[in-house]
Amino acid sequence: MRTRIVAGNWKMNTTPEEGKKLVSEMIPMIDDEIRGAVHAILIPPILHLSGLMSLFSNRKQSLSWGAQDCSAHSKGAYTGEISAEMLLSVGVSYILVGHSERRAYHNETNTLCRDKILRIIEAGGCPIYCVGETLQEREEDRVTPVIEQQLNEGLPELLWEKSLPLIIAYEPVWAIGTGKTASPHQASEVHGLIRHWLKTHASDQIADSTSILYGGSVKAENAAELFNMPDVDGGLIGGASLQSRSFVEIVKACVR
Ligand code: PGA
Repeated sequence: MRTRIVAGNWKMNTTPEEGKKLVSEMIPMIDDEIRGAVHAILIPPILHLSGLMSLFSNRKQSLSWGAQDCSAHSKGAYTGEISAEMLLSVGVSYILVGHSERRAYHNETNTLCRDKILRIIEAGGCPIYCVGETLQEREEDRVTPVIEQQLNEGLPELLWEKSLPLIIAYEPVWAIGTGKTASPHQASEVHGLIRHWLKTHASDQIADSTSILYGGSVKAENAAELFNMPDVDGGLIGGASLQSRSFVEIVKACVR
């Protein structure tokens, strides 16, 4: 069975103090509710990571930690960048790659995403690779080629050659932070397409074991119907991960 996963991407929100408060509220609720059925990943701003991990590490069995981005380079003269190796060395296990906000505001291409994924796997981490179409691409009936291109160009074959861990997140750009959610059917259709791509490019076994998350305006109220669809193994949550109660409700909705 695939791991059920709910990841909370805080984006550029919260001070370190607010972050501590949020995690301290969530942890007791998550411990009680999920009992190992769902893997919860918190992805705060990089600045908060070390502090949060050292404060909450004794209870981290119900939580893992992720970073929102990393450099495409391993080390050197890249002012402002943080390497995958640095993130892994402080206890981060997961790193987002190709979030649509990075693609849109920082001109990140599929090829750059591929380089970042290579750095993450070299460092021993698990990439969470985000794909998704814009509204225009959906209206022009180009969802399949756009997603396939993101997968073809972004995912290095080394992943399959060495059976390395990978999570894929389908996040339709038009649904992120807009309050518009893909219908369960729309989400399931694209998740099925991604699963099929994995079968043909990797293997049946990798396709069956790779968790594919849905992201885009997931809330406590709509999480269960999305998470119950075939091929939807959990969610990548933005806005609703900034409130402890709503995030925990979403985590609960993912329990099968
Ligand atoms: P949202 O963001 O839940 O606020 O729509 C999702 C994401 O960007 O990962």
